Amino acid sequence: MDDLRQKYLDAIANAADEAVLEDLRVQAVGKKGEVSLKMRELGKMTPEERQVAGPALNALKDEINSALAAKKAGLADAALDARLRDEWLDVTLPGRTRRPGTIHPISQVTDEVTAIFADMGFAVAEGGQVENDWYNFDALNIPGHHPARAEMDTFYMHRAEGDNRPPHVLRTHTSPVQIRSMELQGAPLRVICPGRVYRADYDQTHTPMFHQVEGLAIDTDISMANLKWVLEEFVRSFFEVDDVELRFRASHFPFTEPSAEVDIRCSWEGGTLKVGEGDDWLEILGSGMVHPKVLQAGGIDPEVYQGFAFGIGIDRIAMLKYGIPDLRAFFDSDLRWLRHYGFASLDQPNLQAGLSR
Ligand code: DAH
Repeated sequence: MDDLRQKYLDAIANAADEAVLEDLRVQAVGKKGEVSLKMRELGKMTPEERQVAGPALNALKDEINSALAAKKAGLADAALDARLRDEWLDVTLPGRTRRPGTIHPISQVTDEVTAIFADMGFAVAEGGQVENDWYNFDALNIPGHHPARAEMDTFYMHRAEGDNRPPHVLRTHTSPVQIRSMELQGAPLRVICPGRVYRADYDQTHTPMFHQVEGLAIDTDISMANLKWVLEEFVRSFFEVDDVELRFRASHFPFTEPSAEVDIRCSWEGGTLKVGEGDDWLEILGSGMVHPKVLQAGGIDPEVYQGFAFGIGIDRIAMLKYGIPDLRAFFDSDLRWLRHYGFASLDQPNLQAGLSR
C-alpha cells in the first residue's frame, strides 16, 4: 500500500496539466482504479485483516483525492498567473491623444475685426438671417423697381399661395442691421454687425452663404473724414502693417450719399499678395455717408444727425490676410483644410498681444 501511495503522490506532484491529473485519478481511484480494486479485495479478507486494511485503504483514497484536488487548484492558479502575466496591460499609459479642433478662419477674422472696432468704441449688434424685404431693401432706399434688388440674386422664402404679406428673404447683406440698430438704440450710435448673408452665386470667390461686417456711426458731427480715419485705422490694424495706402473711389450705393468704394494698395508678385506695397489696387469694402432717407427709416432725424456706414466682406479679407485662394473651401468642412488654415483655440485675438500670433 505504501508503494501505491508513493507512486500516485509522486505522479500527482509531477503532473503537468489537468488532463494528466484526470488520467491519474482514473488509474488510482476510478471505478477500476488500483485503489478501488484493492478495496474489492477486502471481502476476501478475514475480519481482523479487514479491520486494519479497510481504514488504511479509505485513508489512502482520501489522501490521493485531496492530493488530486490540491494539485488541480495549483495548476489553475499557475494558469491564471501565466495569463495575467501574458495579458498584462499598463493602464497608466496615456491614451492616443485626440487632435484638438481649430478655430475657423471666418471666426478668427470676425474676432479680429471685433477686437479692432471694439477698441474704437464700436459695440456689436446682430440681426436675423431671415429678414422681411422692408429691412433688407426698402428701408435702405432700395425700392421695388431698383436694379440692386435683381443684382443681389436674392433668395426669397417660400410663401403660401394667397399670402400677400411682404415676402421674407435671406438677408443679402448686413445693412438691414443698420435699421434695426437705429430702431433699437436711436442716436448717437456706434455699432458693427458681423454675420452671415446670402446670395445665389457660386464660383472661386462667391458662395451662396458668406459673411459681412457692417459698420455704422451716427452722431451730430460725423463727417467723411471720420469715416476715412476709422477705415485706415482698421486696415492698418487688421493687416498688421504700418504703411497702408487706401484709395477712396467714388461709387454708388442707394443707402449712402456720397458713396465710396475703398481699394487697398497691394502687390501680387510671385502669386502671393502683399498688402501696402506694389502697383495694384484691391477693392475691400463699400462705404459712404448714410442717406437721409435711411436715417429717417430708422427713426432718426437727418436734420440733427449724420452718420457713416461701411460694409466689409469678411471672407474676402480673410482670404487676403491668410492667403486662402478659394472661397468655396471655407465651407466644405474638410478636416485637412481646417487643420491647415484653422487657428489654435486658445489664441483669442486682441490688440495688445497681436491679432494673429
Ligand atoms: N451692403 C453693401 C453690399 O452688400 C455693402 C455696403 C456698401 C454697406 C456701402 C454699407 C455701405 O454700409 O455704406 O454690397
